[in-house]
Amino acid sequence: MHRTHTCGELNIADTGKTVTLAGWVQRSRDLGGMTFIDLRDRYGLTQLAFNMETNAALCLEARKLGREFVIKVTGKVAERSSKNLKMPTGEIEIVVDKIEVLNAAITPPFTIEDNTDGGDELRMKYRYLDLRRSAVRKNLELRHRMAIETRNYLDLQGFLEVETPVLIKSTPEGARDFVVPSRMNQGEFYALPQSPQTFKQILMVGGFDKYYQIVKCFRDEDLRADRQPEFTQIDCEMSFVEQEDILNTFEGLVKNLFKKVKGVDIVSLPRMTYADAMKYYGNDKPDTRFEMKFVELTELVKGKSFKIFDDAETVVGICAKGCAEYTRKQLDELTEFVKRPQLGAGGLIYLRYNADGTLKSSVDKFYNEEELKKWADAFNAQPGDLILVLGGANSKTRKALSELRLEMGSRLGFRNKDVFSPLWVVDFPLLEWNEETNRWHAMHHPFTSPKPEDISLLNFDPGKIRANAYDMVINGVEVGGGSIRIHNKDLQAKMFEVLGFTKEDAQYQFGFLMNAFEFGAPPHGGIAFGFDRLCSLFGGSDSIRDFIAFPKNNSGRDMMIDSPSTINPEQLKELGIQLEARVKND
Ligand code: AMO
Repeated sequence: MHRTHTCGELNIADTGKTVTLAGWVQRSRDLGGMTFIDLRDRYGLTQLAFNMETNAALCLEARKLGREFVIKVTGKVAERSSKNLKMPTGEIEIVVDKIEVLNAAITPPFTIEDNTDGGDELRMKYRYLDLRRSAVRKNLELRHRMAIETRNYLDLQGFLEVETPVLIKSTPEGARDFVVPSRMNQGEFYALPQSPQTFKQILMVGGFDKYYQIVKCFRDEDLRADRQPEFTQIDCEMSFVEQEDILNTFEGLVKNLFKKVKGVDIVSLPRMTYADAMKYYGNDKPDTRFEMKFVELTELVKGKSFKIFDDAETVVGICAKGCAEYTRKQLDELTEFVKRPQLGAGGLIYLRYNADGTLKSSVDKFYNEEELKKWADAFNAQPGDLILVLGGANSKTRKALSELRLEMGSRLGFRNKDVFSPLWVVDFPLLEWNEETNRWHAMHHPFTSPKPEDISLLNFDPGKIRANAYDMVINGVEVGGGSIRIHNKDLQAKMFEVLGFTKEDAQYQFGFLMNAFEFGAPPHGGIAFGFDRLCSLFGGSDSIRDFIAFPKNNSGRDMMIDSPSTINPEQLKELGIQLEARVKND
């Protein structure tokens, strides 16, 4: 045994014990007569003490230890003269009488402490060093706990964890596929699963009526803080259920996770229709930690010679409580915020409802006090409030206002990471029109069932069909989504037709599923949660990278192993792949 104890467990009650510890040298301090070393392992830090007077040789040996050396020490637990009560081991130290260097280390490129000086890319390149930091370790411990509690809950509910293959055929979840060439079938490719969607449906046909899997999914799409090219889902499917059963089962999962992992009671999990989410928040994943709902002014503001509003398809605003005294500078900042190219608003109109009851707007030239009072009334505004209004094309204006609402929420401290506001968004449209491809796309995926009462619209007004689909949203983050599926071959074929597939294409890509539906498919439905997103939300971070042991950067690159990378010509030849000569710019 290299150790009798870990670096996180010894305390005053252990005084006098002879112990052996092993770990990394975090920091060493030389105080002339004494040398102190903080020894670190996964469990914490313990102070080692060396005394020049009582053991000069050992003290000199200790002074030679560099940062991150791996050492083993034996010594006696002693009470410290100057205690650090913030640390669990802060009342004791080990008076060392033997050091063994298990391995030396070169100087690390950044400090391995809670507040590190290493930038993102550097820390990703040396991820093994970053993993030694307690902040990263705690995130992975949280992830572990979340996985265990998920498995416990689903096991108790009778779900079976079944593994599905990774080398498959394309699954249409809306992103590009990562593909893998086949050596044995030259010119043919596997696709990595964007999700196990078709397999879990096939499992239902196979009679496994409650399936789950904590599973890797792969999507070749633009990356952001909450998106990685490979990520993990808690993927679930159930047979003989309706939407209500699924919502109840997974409400249970989420409440259980909050209770067990965070000690938080989620009292209510409200439901909001997609239509209301768009109307009141301009967003299908509203952050409901705060109100500040949209109020429509389109009719109220027209016909007063203010051209921007007269020409606008939509005029809509929010009311920021108690912000009437925002300075010119603050308002300019907000104007710049909505004018950024990503949002592209032409400008921002404001109305201050001053504490003395007077009204002052940036469009006083066009609207008199009485008219402005009507605006204020539409928002139910009180003296002291500030109203912010945007006008323009409908979807762009709502999107910009949605971002402005979040910005105001942040400025006003409403987006506290320790407050959790989950909800279901339901009744999504089944289809959305894509201007680029000039055809309907499935909003969720092509296996989602229309609401039975809307099926008749398939032939003449597909855009109006609502789906039996639902998302779970927490604090403005889409943490999960799912639907009741089509389980009838003819309806599935019809759906592919509406989506612009020829019969042959549909058969080529999804014939296996439609064939399976002919052999007795039960009614079924399910959901998948973004596991990384759930973990980062629980851990109070916006970035899922912090909760993935070996994440990729925003260009989809693993900085540590330096991948993707080229492969040698023999491998390419074996795969039957010819690359065009690459012209290097350098
Ligand atoms: P969907 O595509 O909505 O549904 O994905 C489910 C959840 O997975 C998470 N997610 C991601 N997390 C990190 N990085 C990504 N690139 C990424 N993409 C998605 C989100 C999302 O809510 N098969 C369906 C589920 C079903 O219908 O049962 C599916 O995959 O949190």
